[in-house]
Amino acid sequence: MVDLGREVTLEFIRVTEAAALKASRWMGRGDKNAADQAAVDAMRGMMDLVNVRGTIVIGEGEKDQAPMLYIGERVGGGGLRDPQVDIAVDPIDGTTLTSKGLPNAISVIAVGNEGTLAPLPSYYANKIAVGPEAKGSIDINAPVQDNLERVAKVLGVRTGDLTAIVLDRPRHEQLIQEIRQTGARIKLISDGDVAGAIATATEDSGVNILFGIGGSPEAVISAAALKCLGGELQVKLWPSDEGERKKILEMGYAEADLDQPYGIDDLAKGDSIIFCATGITGGDFLPGVRYEENLAITHSVAMRSKTRTVRYITAHHHLDTKTIPSRTEAREIGI
Ligand code: FBP
Repeated sequence: MVDLGREVTLEFIRVTEAAALKASRWMGRGDKNAADQAAVDAMRGMMDLVNVRGTIVIGEGEKDQAPMLYIGERVGGGGLRDPQVDIAVDPIDGTTLTSKGLPNAISVIAVGNEGTLAPLPSYYANKIAVGPEAKGSIDINAPVQDNLERVAKVLGVRTGDLTAIVLDRPRHEQLIQEIRQTGARIKLISDGDVAGAIATATEDSGVNILFGIGGSPEAVISAAALKCLGGELQVKLWPSDEGERKKILEMGYAEADLDQPYGIDDLAKGDSIIFCATGITGGDFLPGVRYEENLAITHSVAMRSKTRTVRYITAHHHLDTKTIPSRTEAREIGI
């Protein structure tokens, strides 16, 4: 197994920075697809400069749906001596947040040695996540109340002192009711459950636990982040209708797999995991891209599961000199 080095971690920061910079130009402009395309193009362009032989395992969908960052696409510099890695990307987690200028849109990437990141089908997953102090106290098969009581006990607080983060969706009506019945507080988010999962492991977020159904690609990326932060996440595939259920079964999953909980070590195996993120709109986790006279300022985080070092990086990009490789235009373009 290759030890994914410190240098490569920093190279991936440049990838999320590029995506965030390009996405940030679309903040509040009401066009989430344009924001996403800009982020994908920059992320894909910058990826060519990273010294890895990478395979996209979580990306923008199947090859026929996505021109870039599709599942199975080979990315990276591709040097013979470069490590072979799995790559999970979400150029924007929170495309609607970006298009509306709302907080907590981020650009994210997770990397691990080949075979370490689970290629979950790109549908939905039911998730539960906690930070390091509550690790070992959750069970996705247990009732909401039991999970909250166990987490409260291990944190030494009352259930009513806990805060759960939940995507604000009609499908969560019962979940929200069950949480409320325990007296626990809830932070409803309109999008962005990667940042939500990370919040459970971030000391000053005030969030203790994440519950609910979100994207399964985001589940794998959240697992990578929580692995680096020492937290825990469990998920179960959650096909939203019969069509999705059929497609998952056609992909080679068995009926029993749909009831199978996947833990953090199933989704992000071993200790070669790297996670990088850059803030787009700014929020609890990372400040967003800010423009000053001739400067764009980005805030990113890089983490490695091996050492569990969490490194926050502020970068000042000079608008008259900085360029980003665009895949679509096959040339370097300004921010
Ligand atoms: P996008 O950035 O792709 O729009 O995803 C945002 C998000 O909120 C994710 O964080 C979450 O996992 C998923 O969408 C939930 O899906 P849905 O909006 O269909 O409920």
